[in-house]
Amino acid sequence: MSYTNLKDFFSAEIAENGMPQQLADLLIGISETCKHISFEVSRGALAGVLGMAGTENVQGEDQKKLDVISNDLMVDGCARTGAVCGIASEEMDHCLTVPADMPVGPYLVCFDPLDGSSNIDINVSIGTIFSVLPGPRGADRNVTDADFLQPGSNQLAAGYVVYGPQTQMVFTLGRGVLMFTLDRESNEFVLTNATVQIPAAAKEFAINCSNMRHWENPVKRYIAELLEGKTGVRGKDFNMRWVAAMVAEVHRILNRGGIFMYPRDNRDPCKPGKLRLMYEANPMSWLVEQAGGRATNGYDRILGIQPETLHQRVAVFLGAAEEVDLVGSYHKE
Ligand code: AHG
Ligand code: MN
Ligand code: MN
Repeated sequence: MSYTNLKDFFSAEIAENGMPQQLADLLIGISETCKHISFEVSRGALAGVLGMAGTENVQGEDQKKLDVISNDLMVDGCARTGAVCGIASEEMDHCLTVPADMPVGPYLVCFDPLDGSSNIDINVSIGTIFSVLPGPRGADRNVTDADFLQPGSNQLAAGYVVYGPQTQMVFTLGRGVLMFTLDRESNEFVLTNATVQIPAAAKEFAINCSNMRHWENPVKRYIAELLEGKTGVRGKDFNMRWVAAMVAEVHRILNRGGIFMYPRDNRDPCKPGKLRLMYEANPMSWLVEQAGGRATNGYDRILGIQPETLHQRVAVFLGAAEEVDLVGSYHKE
């Protein structure tokens, strides 16, 4: 394998595939910011960054200190690149525009600054998820939330950084999925997998089974069949995993295959699932599709959904195409 760092990779993309310089600037900005977040995460109790912030986000969720720290770093890191005209986040009610004294660029960026917050204090993998969309009017200082409401198929770049045993940056520009690993000696992200492909045959599934009694029938049926194993209709055994951080689940699926589900359930009909479309489902769905997998809400391709609000939620079924198609077929019966 040839080892290329992120900056060299983007130089080649600019020269060979016409990647816009400002898009590269934005992704470099995100990568530098995530190195900083990775450092804060790794210091944990030593830096007093664990525990609650004592505030709630727009979705009524209690914010952890690291949710707020990561959000502030991402806002600052993206704004400084001069490549964005609007910034939206899980942790902010509305989007931010670029102040008059800072350069403005053509891209909208939205992110989940820290995914898997419940894992922070127990030292389990967490991550940052990002999605880049075109600003509808190019470099413009008057961006509103409505400008972000574009289907995921409009994304120009999307990915995540996972903070686990290794810190890795995984993204797509629409030409496959690239995995870079942070080399702590050089402090550079180094390309470690340029041929990410989800294995066709799944052996693992991920779903929060504590919600089973609330699921809709197609999901109950699909999971019951997986649990029957060798002796059931599927004729093989499946293993189960639940990390409680979408970043870690998607990372496992990109590396080892399987299916991840966060379905809607019967508790609150107004709440179509838990995960957010704009900065969780859309970027992850594009990655999964780029690695040969599928991502739907049970019925339709996630990337085709027209968002109605910035923080809207969506049911998610993603991973190996055959499995996502099968659970989809049960929804349509
Ligand atoms: P966040 O920490 O950004 O709010 O996201 C957590 C999400 C997602 O990453 C994970 O798959 C899911 O919530 C875990 O949900 P449970 O609490 O049901 O395990
Ligand atoms: Mn999240
Ligand atoms: Mn989050």
